[in-house]
Formats: sequence, structure tokens, C-alpha cells
Amino acid sequence: MLAPVNDAFIAGERVLTYGLLSSTNTQAFALADQGISPPFWVVAQEQSEGRGRRGRAWVSAPGDLLVSVCLDLPLTPKGHPWLPLIAALSLHDAIEASSPGAGVLVALKWPNDLMIQRKKISGILLEGKTAGPSHRVVIGFGVNLVGAPTETEIERPATSLAAAGIKVTSQDLLLHLLIAMQQWLGVMKRGDVDQIRSSWLLQSVGLGEEISIRFSNHIETGRFVDLAQDGRLMLERKDGDIYHVSAGDVFLSESG
Ligand code: BTN
Repeated sequence: MLAPVNDAFIAGERVLTYGLLSSTNTQAFALADQGISPPFWVVAQEQSEGRGRRGRAWVSAPGDLLVSVCLDLPLTPKGHPWLPLIAALSLHDAIEASSPGAGVLVALKWPNDLMIQRKKISGILLEGKTAGPSHRVVIGFGVNLVGAPTETEIERPATSLAAAGIKVTSQDLLLHLLIAMQQWLGVMKRGDVDQIRSSWLLQSVGLGEEISIRFSNHIETGRFVDLAQDGRLMLERKDGDIYHVSAGDVFLSESG
């Protein structure tokens, strides 16, 4: 098994750091299978097979942040549908804490993309499986600190924190991400859905706008009117019906 270049506790969390990995998500599942007890974090300098949502590849540049956290959660959900949204909130808070004032530039696109001027700066991939009495979840964060894939690579505009004038180091951002995730997981475990929902909506982009949602075999358009009590996006269709969306790719207009 590949040895980490560093295995340390940061802000009370175990963080295993590697040079090149296929994917930090893959490594996190493998480490847990080998007996490392969640929660723990896996960081890589580079990935050879970084994964995005819906089977896409995740393209990163040297200096970008590539990190996954592995969690064992109780099988009975308490706020679990909000996990993708608290991951995005945590990253948002971590960017603000690393570069005070930067948070206002960063908006959340449902469920958990981070955007600057409607261009993607970060992607978050949640993967899970049942592991004995728990639900094992790995949440992988890819943050464009310095590099951004071209539009042809990801079929939508992307940018980086550096291009927006936000200077943060991956170490600093990681530290603040560990702290912010601890805080938001605490809120989720308390079941304080109202706090998650209102904070997410406050930082969001696209609310009240006409949006398109791409599913595996069709596209829906309508107005993004609200978030439901379980974190699903509420889309008002032309016929007035409200459609609750639990998974799909949201496309915003470029200008809002
Ligand atoms: C998306 O499609 O927006 C999600 C991208 C998630 C990328 C990150 S990079 C770190 C972690 N390891 C992976 O293989 N994917 C996630």
C-alpha cells in the first residue's frame, strides 16, 4: 500500500498527505477498508484519475487543492440529505476565513458547486456505501486555486481563485476547511436544518431565476423558487407545477 508523505493531526483531524494518487476519494475508501477509522482526510498533490460528478473526469493544476474526507455516519439519517450542501457551505466559509472578504465573491450553485461570477471554481463529489452499522461517506473537494479547465474540458465556464484575485494557499484553505466541516457537521447532527437551509440560500446563485436542469435522459427548465426541507431544489415549471429535484446538473444563464 502506498505510504503517505505525511500523516499528521491538524485541528484535531487525521490528515494523510500523498504526492500522486489516482483519486483522493478512491484512496479514502481503500484506507478505511484497511482499518483506518473515519473520520480522516486524504490530500493529494496530483491525481491521475480524478473523478467528477456523473462519471466526468476532474481536471486540476499543480497547486490546486485536492482533498477528501471519510466519515462514518449512523444509518438512520438525521439531516443527511443536507450533507452535499453543508460540504459547499464549509468550503465557502473556509475561503472566507483564509482570505477575509473573499466570501462575498463566492456563490453556491445547487447542490454544491462554488462559483465566482457564474464560473465554477470548485467541485464536490460525494460517494457512499454501507459499512456494517454505518453509512460510509467520502466527500471529495477539488478547488481551482490556481488553474481552471477550459470550457471544452468541462462543458461550462470555469475560473480559479487566483484569477479572481483571491490568494490562498492550499495548506491554509485545508486548515479552515477542517474547522468549517467540524462546525457544519455539528449543525447537521443537531438536526438544525433551518440554519443550514437559510445559510445555503443566503450564499446561493440562481434563486428566483429561470434555470435548466440536465438529467441523464432529459432536460427540465423552470424557475428555481426554493429549497425544500430536505435540501431538494424546487423548480416551478411553466405549467405551475413544482418539481422537487434530488439530483441533476443545474445550468444558469451567464448573466443572471
Ligand atoms: C464535480 O464534478 O463537480 C465534482 C468534482 C470533485 C473533484 C474532487 S478532487 C478530490 C476528489 N477526488 C476525486 O477523484 N474527485 C474529488
